[in-house]
Amino acid sequence: MDFKKYITVVSDFPKEGIKFKDITTLMEDGEAYKKAIDEMAAFAKEKDIDVVVGPEARGFVVGCPISYSLGIGFVPVRKEGKLPREVIGVDYGLEYGKDRLNMHKDSIKPGQKVLIADDLLATGGTIEATIQMVEELGGVVAGIVFLIELSYLDGREKLKDYEVFSLMKY
Ligand code: PRP
Repeated sequence: MDFKKYITVVSDFPKEGIKFKDITTLMEDGEAYKKAIDEMAAFAKEKDIDVVVGPEARGFVVGCPISYSLGIGFVPVRKEGKLPREVIGVDYGLEYGKDRLNMHKDSIKPGQKVLIADDLLATGGTIEATIQMVEELGGVVAGIVFLIELSYLDGREKLKDYEVFSLMKY
């Protein structure tokens, strides 16, 4: 399937010079959305994953259906101040901004094999911070999946020690 056909590239959003990759048009198409999730879940299937971890908000859009498809749990990574119980946190840089991410301290059990899922790999800052937290909690990152990789931003350089699958590359 030509998944790129379902992505809308929006110029100058959210800032001038950025060509935003809008995944909502893929999500709106049931067949394309399902096929995209199926391919990402197929990558994970061979890896004997225990739990899927995904950063808000668009990481939930891919991570939750993958975890459902694999019949395993999903752990959210959220921006500071959103999780109600004891958290660990990491500062991170975005393609356009800075923030802090959190995970619940008891969300990953030591030795668990983790699949990290997100819609987009840009600079890699979000996923680098997510890996740091998963590993701090004793999890083993067994794979990382994206709908879209922006190859020109070299985010993959930060992930070179991990097995990475991206459905589309720009
Ligand atoms: C976007 C996207 C990724 C991240 C990629 O999320 O969904 O998580 O940025 O950028 P990076 O590789 O440079 O870190 P954003 O923080 O905009 O949040 P959202 O999903 O809530 O829109």
